[in-house]
Amino acid sequence: MKKNISKFIVFCAFLVMQNLPILASTTTALNLMPAPREIMVINSAGFRLDDGFSTALEGHADARLSKAVTRMLRRLSGRTGLFFPQDYITAKSNPETPQMIIRASRTGDLLVGEDESYQLTITENQITLEAGTDIGALRGMETFLQLLSVDEKGYYFPAIVINDAPRFPWRGLLIDVSRHFMPVEVIKRNLDGMAAVKMNVLHWHLTDDQGFRVECQSWPKLHEMGSDGFYYTREQIKEIIAYAADRGIRIMPEFDVPAHATSWLVAYPELGSTPGPYSPERRWGIKDPTMDPTKEFTYEFLDKFFAEMAALFPDEYFHIGGDENNGSHWNANKQIQQFMQDNNIPDNHALQAHFNKRILQILTKYNKKMIGWDEIFQPTLPTDIIIHSWRGTESLVKSAQQGYMGILSNGYYIDLIQPAEYHYLNDPIPANTTMSEDEQNRILGGEATSWGELVTPETVDSRIWPRTAAIAERLWSSQSCNDVEDMYRRLEVISLRLEELGLTHIKNYDMMLRRLSNNQIITPLKTFVDVVEPVKKYERHHQGITYTSYSPYTRVVDAARPESMTARRFNQLADQFIESPTPAAAQELTDLLEIWKNNHASLKPIIAKSPILQEIETMSADLQELAVTGLVAVRAYRKHKNLSKKQIESARALLEKAKKPRGQVELMVVDSIEKLVQAAMNKNK
Ligand code: ACM
Repeated sequence: MKKNISKFIVFCAFLVMQNLPILASTTTALNLMPAPREIMVINSAGFRLDDGFSTALEGHADARLSKAVTRMLRRLSGRTGLFFPQDYITAKSNPETPQMIIRASRTGDLLVGEDESYQLTITENQITLEAGTDIGALRGMETFLQLLSVDEKGYYFPAIVINDAPRFPWRGLLIDVSRHFMPVEVIKRNLDGMAAVKMNVLHWHLTDDQGFRVECQSWPKLHEMGSDGFYYTREQIKEIIAYAADRGIRIMPEFDVPAHATSWLVAYPELGSTPGPYSPERRWGIKDPTMDPTKEFTYEFLDKFFAEMAALFPDEYFHIGGDENNGSHWNANKQIQQFMQDNNIPDNHALQAHFNKRILQILTKYNKKMIGWDEIFQPTLPTDIIIHSWRGTESLVKSAQQGYMGILSNGYYIDLIQPAEYHYLNDPIPANTTMSEDEQNRILGGEATSWGELVTPETVDSRIWPRTAAIAERLWSSQSCNDVEDMYRRLEVISLRLEELGLTHIKNYDMMLRRLSNNQIITPLKTFVDVVEPVKKYERHHQGITYTSYSPYTRVVDAARPESMTARRFNQLADQFIESPTPAAAQELTDLLEIWKNNHASLKPIIAKSPILQEIETMSADLQELAVTGLVAVRAYRKHKNLSKKQIESARALLEKAKKPRGQVELMVVDSIEKLVQAAMNKNK
């Protein structure tokens, strides 16, 4: 993949904008995400938006572009309340003097590496969006919508020229619909979110131990017995593929084989490596049931299955999973062991390679290219397959060095509840890479992974957004675009823009808090939940609770956001205050601490009437004590007063206690309070 060396200097666009005095008077810094490749400001005058706004399609205009421009107009009109003259846009509806011209040279193909570049020029009187393909024009329209600004005179767009193109051709989001089924509307609104941040692949994890989610005509027991009735009909799948295609997004299905396959074996135990019977899996973790790679029936079955799916899913890539085969059912099967001996297959990895080769033959017959998790890597496979790295970046580098294309998900596991910053700084090709240019060109991009064990349709958006927008920027924007503070500043704005598309990551928070507080007033609960986060990584599974497909995912831990912005802000204020204890800095800290100090008294009576909240009661009390301790530390630090021995001892005991998770959430301000106490102690030594 040739990455264009820009003819301009490649800027991290937002930094440029922030430093431009001409825009400082009209707006705060631009809130573009992902940051475009190049921005040039023309002058300080902007294009004023009014109810005469009209667009024209020039060059190649197909139905996809018409629909996209129509959607763009509706979003603009929705945000501004302006009644535009145009309704459904086609090239035939072009007005004589359009204010915005959209020109695409051809219809883009939904293929890896398709041209997604665009140029957007905004002057006082005219807006022009030019692109090599309509997909590029779609990307440009999202930038255009993000540029909408306001001042006292109304709505306007800054006068600007943007040249933009992605750094990586593969910018994906995996949604696991097997662990928890996600209805059509969940997928659609997430496709809208993806389009808004220029992502272009939905990796649809359709089958796993816990559920087989596709209607299958060739082997109908798969969806009948393997899904509890939660699956997509063929019509629904076509509808989603079309919806994604309208947004320039590929849909790549994953059918995970030979392991992660219990749901298949429930229906067809004869595919398995033990006789069965198999029952639907409700628990999480790595399971034993695995297809038998030594039986011809397995390949006959999969041939018929892939023939049907290859016709249903138009994408050129099929993901075959291939991860986490623990081999236990293979080891226990005498006939499989005999097969390995007879065929000089030394171990399970080699046996899986044998299986993969057979699968590859089937996929090739149906004109599909194979992609799989890094376990499938095996140097005897042809180099037009893609290795999907999830266990580490080493496998990505290794496969690129051996001539394979790769995409990265290690570091983009959004189900592990890590901060946006962590994902943002995880570069598929870090600045210090030792890979050659050719090797680097084999790295196609990456995918955020929304694994579905702990999410439901109600919470899934809050685990995907807004953090995935930071990953989208990492994959679209230049490597040097890595200012974390500015990313967070823009992420907050983009998060609200994403909500406009129907995503529920913000609005469901209040709804869940209302339910948790038994429809009492939520303010005190919100003050508390605003400063907690779910325990990280896989901790939720190791605290004495066994979650299953049908557990409640409605507790405080599920409502809590993956990243507390309030805690982040408090932590920054504490650092600033310790660095420079001005009255203003002290005041800001004190204001927050006073709120927390008084919160428990308000929350306690609510907890008394909501048993589901009892698990966080002691933590709410800890927050109050921490606030009191924080206030003492702030005062002592500012006034050069000593903390008494007793104060220090009780602060230590409190900090120890407050660090312990309860109800599977952690209080995210403990470390800052500790820092403040420490600072007060050190200063007055
Ligand atoms: C994986 O997370 N097992 C690909």
